[in-house]
Amino acid sequence: MAEKFSYEQYVSDADFLRKYNDYQSRYSEKVRESDKVIVSIVNSLTSKINTHRPVLLDIGCSTGNLLMHLRDAVQSIDYIGGDLAQSSLEQCRSNPKLSGINFELLDILDLPVSSYDIVVVNAVLYMFSEKQYDAAVRSISKSLKPGGVVIIYDFAHPFEHQDLEIFETSVLHPDGLRLCFRPMKKVREKLVAAGFSDVEFSPFELPIDLPKPPYDEEVVTYTVNDSLAHKMMFRGVLYQPWCHMVAHKAN
Ligand SMILES: C[S@@+](CC[C@H](N)C(=O)[O-])C[C@H]1O[C@@H](n2cnc3c(N)ncnc32)[C@H](O)[C@@H]1O
Repeated sequence: MAEKFSYEQYVSDADFLRKYNDYQSRYSEKVRESDKVIVSIVNSLTSKINTHRPVLLDIGCSTGNLLMHLRDAVQSIDYIGGDLAQSSLEQCRSNPKLSGINFELLDILDLPVSSYDIVVVNAVLYMFSEKQYDAAVRSISKSLKPGGVVIIYDFAHPFEHQDLEIFETSVLHPDGLRLCFRPMKKVREKLVAAGFSDVEFSPFELPIDLPKPPYDEEVVTYTVNDSLAHKMMFRGVLYQPWCHMVAHKAN
């Protein structure tokens, strides 16, 4: 049975997906700053992977923006996009800029076994309950070939004993969306339990200002400079500890 406040509701909500995919179209030309970091991680990994032609899965790929930018930057990889939202996959398949990339209906909770050298999970897991998160991490680990690498972009913060689960309702998500802010310590433990090692966390700092939206229906990321001029990323009233994480599966 679907959980309350679950991403499962929105992956089949055509009205939400139309609005969300419009939002994503802002980033089809211009690479999102956090995606630039993922591109550079993938670039640095390719020299270390011994496979002739590595296979990368972007799970929860939405309209395929990251894959487009990845393929522009690194051509020595075979790319696959996976998502549970059929309408996003259809948009990807009909986009000539994404031709040659395979788009598959895939559930992060049940990925094909031993299939990929790199799995990217970009802004997906923060919506997952504890049970779903554990299942996703196990499924990603199984889906990687020996020596494979997972790259995660998600909320992760350094307060070891503060574990937050917030239910946000907004115009876009009137039935509510779960947002989890997990301690890095717990994320590391979960990744290690699923068979990963060498877990690295790189808290993301946005190098540009994003304007504060008016207090209307838009709940999107904007920045506020702290006293040291760090650009803190907010979403409505919430501070977002976005972080890149890289972990390796044993050989
Ligand atoms: C917040 S969006 C992030 C999209 C994109 N990765 C990005 O960073 O812009 C989350 C994406 O994950 C997908 N998704 C949610 N649950 C999923 C699941 N169980 N398996 C695969 N994809 C899922 C959604 O359909 C959506 O495209």
